[in-house]
Amino acid sequence: MDHALTYARNHYDRFVADLEDLLRIPSISTDPAYAGEVRRAAGWLVDHFKAIGVAHAEAIDTEGHPIVYAEHRVDPSLPTVLVYGHYDVQPPDPLELWTSPPFEPVIRDGVLYARGACDDKGQLFMHLKAAEAYLAAEGGPPVNLKFLLEGEEESGSTHLPGFIAAHRERLAADVVLISDTDLFGPGIPSITYGLRGLAYVEVTLTGPDRDLHSGMYGGAIENPINALCRLIAGLHDADHRVTIPGFYDNVVPLTEEERATFRALPFDETAWAEEVGVRVTRTEKGYSVLEAISARPTLDANGIWGGYTGQGAKTVLPAQAHAKISMRLVPNQTPDEIAEKARAYFEANCPPTMKLTFRTLHGGHGVLVDTHSPAMQAAARALKEVFGRDPFFVRSGGSIPVVADFKTILGLDSVLMGFGLNSDAIHSPNEHFGLDRFRQGIESIIRFHTHYAATR
Ligand code: BES
Ligand code: ZN
Repeated sequence: MDHALTYARNHYDRFVADLEDLLRIPSISTDPAYAGEVRRAAGWLVDHFKAIGVAHAEAIDTEGHPIVYAEHRVDPSLPTVLVYGHYDVQPPDPLELWTSPPFEPVIRDGVLYARGACDDKGQLFMHLKAAEAYLAAEGGPPVNLKFLLEGEEESGSTHLPGFIAAHRERLAADVVLISDTDLFGPGIPSITYGLRGLAYVEVTLTGPDRDLHSGMYGGAIENPINALCRLIAGLHDADHRVTIPGFYDNVVPLTEEERATFRALPFDETAWAEEVGVRVTRTEKGYSVLEAISARPTLDANGIWGGYTGQGAKTVLPAQAHAKISMRLVPNQTPDEIAEKARAYFEANCPPTMKLTFRTLHGGHGVLVDTHSPAMQAAARALKEVFGRDPFFVRSGGSIPVVADFKTILGLDSVLMGFGLNSDAIHSPNEHFGLDRFRQGIESIIRFHTHYAATR
């Protein structure tokens, strides 16, 4: 381990330069126009695995974007760590808000700016560099390594569960290691033991069969935008609870012990809100901000459109109104169950003046991972050595749907050891990653492998 750490410390500048090459490839998975670039990023990773001495690497075609699979088997008697990450990125829009172009990485004050710098190219790359350090300095890692790198995470991981089910043998491992989450705060290490799930739906209301003059028809023909707003407004009650019948039926409640753990976390609600320009927060009645954003289910309209939204005024009573709605889930809610309950709400409350179209776009299960496993303890030890303090075990409000699939299909728990920060602006303009955290991440991963091997 010590030689690998020294090697990493002596090569950070080149590690960063290598990462910049990967960040230059605009692998935007949701936009079909970039499919060639997603493929190019997969090929780049395969070449890089080979260049650092990983024994086997390939890009495997799916119906969607390629999956990159690599492995380095050292000895069957050693434990096997399956590393997951995603090399696709979110679209960079709105482009005009970037200080420097999203796919031309630059370093300002020790911070690397580019789309994907944190989510997740910068973080998955730490795993390649930890492997390189072991291969170059110690002849190989102290564990068997497998890498599963996805190109569709930001667009719903459509083809990944099928791939995992079809390659059970190949993916067999003892634990999954993922860096695609956050530190609890700057210099405050954490291990994420819970993620929320997701049910994402789209609703359309159709009234008249064409747009109408709002003077000639307004008053007797119901307006789909007005009707949709009424339906959306009815989705929360005065306590900010979701009103969909049965929404909370399967929710695993927070235990008093867990709530005490939440209260003990060094979290400043005021500062957290101010960082996003908000003075007053709004949570489900009876829950703190931290509980509400990570351990309670929620519902949010993500977009709403219809009628005329161009320059100036056009008097129109639109034929249609649309909304995209996401529901973040907690164990044991399931995406199908919740999407169907949402459908039932819209069907029951849709006025007779409207035709309802309801579609489910994608979903994923939430997870909770046992924090007492040997792998969790190895991660805690690694983080303590690097950050000089014990990590907190936290639940995150985001979703990584494959984590539940690893458990149900492969029977594997995941260790979510991430190095992002709230303020890294993932999915936003000027996404960035502090190079200090890139270094800390690589060192933590190097240490994890050795400590995990020692649990055997
Ligand atoms: N890396 C994020 C998830 C994340 C972010 C977890 C911060 C914890 C803290 C991931 O790439 C992501 O954005 N996932 C999507 C999933 C969706 C597209 C199915 C999400 O959470 O919206
Ligand atoms: Zn991500």
